[in-house]
Amino acid sequence: MNFLITGATGNVGGELVAQLIDAGHQVRAYVRNPDKARQQLPEAADLAVGDLDDTTALGSAVHGVDAIFFMQAAPVPAQAQNVVDAAKAAGVRRIVVLSSIGTVIHPMPIIGAAIKARDDVLRASGLDITYLKPNTLSSNALWWKNSIAAEGKVYDPTDPGLTPPIDPYDIARVAATVLTQPGHEGHSYILNGPVALSAREQVEILADVLGREIEFVPVTPEQFAEVNISRGTPEPQARGLQNLQELFRAGRSGVLSDDVQNLTGIAPRTFGQWAEQHRADFN
Ligand SMILES: NC(=O)c1ccc[n+]([C@@H]2O[C@H](COP(=O)([O-])OP(=O)(O)OC[C@H]3O[C@@H](n4cnc5c(N)ncnc54)[C@H](OP(=O)(O)O)[C@@H]3O)[C@@H](O)[C@H]2O)c1
Repeated sequence: MNFLITGATGNVGGELVAQLIDAGHQVRAYVRNPDKARQQLPEAADLAVGDLDDTTALGSAVHGVDAIFFMQAAPVPAQAQNVVDAAKAAGVRRIVVLSSIGTVIHPMPIIGAAIKARDDVLRASGLDITYLKPNTLSSNALWWKNSIAAEGKVYDPTDPGLTPPIDPYDIARVAATVLTQPGHEGHSYILNGPVALSAREQVEILADVLGREIEFVPVTPEQFAEVNISRGTPEPQARGLQNLQELFRAGRSGVLSDDVQNLTGIAPRTFGQWAEQHRADFN
């Protein structure tokens, strides 16, 4: 089969490109920077260059594919509409979208509402959509990389809240399954790792794997937002993150689901396994 993957240089997209190619499928990676993509992606991946605002590039990229894996770094409904329009024009009916647990937890976080508004564009399209709704990604630990390198510290605003981090590798396994098998049209799946952990516990695991001490420094979500704003993050974005962190801190990160195991027959990886696989990224 032949697939178009957006966000192909990202955490989930990169894993998915590799897994689909390993399974013998043809993959067209939709990328903004072909030089960066060439360094990251398997040689067998075809590259289509453009961003999600470029309707001409999207129109050619979807031509001839059986299905699309659609992810956005930030949920922009107009870009989702661009993908829908391109898919319809090319006669492509299947889209698997990287959504979020934030669209189904109560109270719904601000970021979750924005992702839901984006998903509603797909829902209204009449196409065959599958929604993947992961909890926090294990790869979010890469956000700690700079402060670990510079100070040996992690500043975190969610302690003692628990979330079940999922390895992007496992999200990609589910995406590959639902892209290549029938029967998932219209379904939503809740994806998480095997165990709920606090950020403090994740940092302890990471310190063990990296073989170094890392000091865990709890801060409040508000303090975290103030620092982000002082460093140039737009205020609405910083406050949206603050709102999500307040929910996580209060233990409102959603349910533990068995969907990864049920869909793929294999249990999701632990946070420790993710850390082992990504040890070099912290050098
Ligand atoms: N992080 C979480 O805990 C979490 C939880 C639930 C759901 N999600 C969902 O996961 C996604 C983010 O995951 P992530 O943080 O791990 O991100 P990521 O994979 O690092 O995403 C970045 C990717 O998006 C591409 N990209 C960025 N802006 C683009 C644009 N304007 N046009 C085309 N491509 C663009 C980047 O391409 P370049 O290489 O060109 O920059 C890169 O491939 C979001 O959809 C979010 O809703 C995340």
